Amino acid sequence: SPEKTPPTPEPTRRKAPEELRSHRWYGVKDMRSFGHRSRTAQMGFSRDDYLGKPVIGILNTWSDMNSCHTHFKQRVEEVKRGVWQAGGFPVEIPTISLGEAFQKPTTMLYRNMLAMEAEELIRSYPLDGVVLMGGCDKTTPGLVMGALANNLPSIFVPAGPMLRGDYKGKYLGSGSDTWKYWAELRAGNITEQDWQEVEDGIARSPGTCMTMGTASTMTSATEALGLTLPGASSIPAPDSRHSMMATHSGKRIVDMVWEDLKPLDILTPASFDNAVVTALGLGGSTNAIVHLIAMARRASIPLDLARFDELARRTPVIANLRPGGQFLMEDFFYAGGLRAFLKEMGSHIDGSQKTVNGHTLGENIADAQVYIPEVILPLKAPKLESGGLAVLRGNLAPDGAVIKPAAMEQHLRKHTGPAVVFQDYNDMAARIDDPELDITKDSVIVLQSAGPQGAPGMPEWGQLPIPQKLLKEGVRDMVRISDARMSGTSYGACVLHVTPESHVGGPLALVRTGDLVTLDVDARRIAMEVSDEEIARRRAAWKPPMPKFSRGYGAIFLKHVQQADTGCDFDFLAPDYVAPDAAQAS
Ligand code: FES
Ligand code: MG
Repeated sequence: SPEKTPPTPEPTRRKAPEELRSHRWYGVKDMRSFGHRSRTAQMGFSRDDYLGKPVIGILNTWSDMNSCHTHFKQRVEEVKRGVWQAGGFPVEIPTISLGEAFQKPTTMLYRNMLAMEAEELIRSYPLDGVVLMGGCDKTTPGLVMGALANNLPSIFVPAGPMLRGDYKGKYLGSGSDTWKYWAELRAGNITEQDWQEVEDGIARSPGTCMTMGTASTMTSATEALGLTLPGASSIPAPDSRHSMMATHSGKRIVDMVWEDLKPLDILTPASFDNAVVTALGLGGSTNAIVHLIAMARRASIPLDLARFDELARRTPVIANLRPGGQFLMEDFFYAGGLRAFLKEMGSHIDGSQKTVNGHTLGENIADAQVYIPEVILPLKAPKLESGGLAVLRGNLAPDGAVIKPAAMEQHLRKHTGPAVVFQDYNDMAARIDDPELDITKDSVIVLQSAGPQGAPGMPEWGQLPIPQKLLKEGVRDMVRISDARMSGTSYGACVLHVTPESHVGGPLALVRTGDLVTLDVDARRIAMEVSDEEIARRRAAWKPPMPKFSRGYGAIFLKHVQQADTGCDFDFLAPDYVAPDAAQAS
């Protein structure tokens, strides 16, 4: 936990109060600043409360529609307490909360909306520094992307994982145990009453999913980037030390303003490598690829699929956490948390990188220790030597696709089989369990129209279901291909993020039932055994489908969202983007 790390150095004041950004709103002598001060008085504050002090915006993703962030109502008070103690002026600014458990069709449709909202709020209000409160899947990348656009001093407060689920003396894990007990219920092995007990016990405290899903992968990666206090991402949400961390973060951001320590002073290609290595070593979610690439691009730092593959080839998986392993985030915290994990990763982590507390990552983890070596395995005896994920290419995915080789049946690493193609999710739902469907365990299941534009929003449909008749024969894994993402708590020989997606005419749109498809993980290849001439013929006959939205935010999304290999950000949010009109004018 944060208090075990070296004491934060006395802030070096690089700014006078008159140099604060907020001074332009509050400090000058004009009629507008009268308005700002009188309206601050309206909220019950007097001049000494805020004049000459860093104004700290706290971007809070609390919502009654985000079950993972319910404690943020209380935590924000603790952040404010820290800001007051350090001599700052805290202002809470609610943002759109992307509640993974409820939002349809997928929160991924709204990640960029949160990023835009964060960017515009930070720019338009009199803020000197920012606290970002997020954790549930897309809230982490969304907030960080928005903060990078302004580059004001920023610190991330991760929501923290929920407690282990509890059911009849057994621990339950988010996601993975839902599928397990649903299957048990359908098989008649548990009663409706049991099922309801699972329902009441699987999510029994505030906090994010407590398996190593997307939430913990992204908050851990953000800590590895140096954007949180050390150890922050592993503390369970209801733990009193989580409150302490919130208060410490509030204190620290005030000093960061005086020190003028900004995210772009912290982020480097090496810190992004640290984030990627962290996601890999934790056996984390494939979603981290899309988000980390999008975040890096906002920082103008090159990060691409090839770099993920390169690092995956040499990064061992040492966290024994579900879905790939045995334990849950609460165990990970007791085992020493992310600091102990990073320490154990040794030379795979570049400790010279800066962090928000003014120390390097290496200094922050110097005294860390693994307390439970079954949870954080020794580097010399990892769970896997490498292969947390792999990037595939070939005539089916010229711009890349992703697979998690660690989480699949190994006999499928090299496999050729006939495609069974579903043109969209509804087609698949209607036919997959049809006893007449011509499919065997060697078939390759292909789902089209599940990408950023096709679905739309690139939902987590990528763990395509095994047909019921094959399940009954004992088949548990098959090669499955789509342009969708996959939940961080899923597993299987699922080829994901196929790019370009089928909706924009990627080759995935041209596969037909019966075509032979080859997956070769070691050769990093995904291909259809169809001649170039035939592919060209099919492409000529291909007609673009109707767009999925005709108005509103969805229409903006379809017009501007980029493909998965570049992080699914909007084109116009890239730091070097120049609007066509502006380019003409100049
Ligand atoms: Fe919020 Fe999983 S639903 S983190
Ligand atoms: Mg998820």
